[in-house]
Amino acid sequence: MSEYEALVSAAKDARLNAHAPYSNFRVGAALRATSGRIFGGCNVENATYGLTVCAERVAIFKGISEGERGFDAISVVTDTDSLTPPCGACRQLIWEFCGDVPVILSNMKGKIETIPMRDLFPKPFDASSL
Ligand code: THU
Repeated sequence: MSEYEALVSAAKDARLNAHAPYSNFRVGAALRATSGRIFGGCNVENATYGLTVCAERVAIFKGISEGERGFDAISVVTDTDSLTPPCGACRQLIWEFCGDVPVILSNMKGKIETIPMRDLFPKPFDASSL
């Protein structure tokens, strides 16, 4: 069993709850806290489109709102042949709360790739910039 199997499985479960009637693009994410707790998230769309929240940010806000502060991995699952990396807004938030964690991308066919956040977000604006 891979180190990330439970995390990817939680992201797949969360994806089932995606509210994506506008794009039909269903995304699941799961965030692992250093406590070991796993927080799932799905994309939640809105008729205005612009108020949509991505799966990754839902998972982050769930973890933060439950009192967690340290995270060591995040997983993103979609049903596409080409794996889906986090959008720019999510990269900013993942960096803020998780730093240089492994981002495990996978699809429903079992394709999987792990990319470190420093490669997805090489020149961040963060607290050290202020
Ligand atoms: N989406 C995510 O939830 N996460 C990503 O990493 C990429 C995009 C969502 C937002 C929107 O509901 C749909 O996918 C299409 O952009």
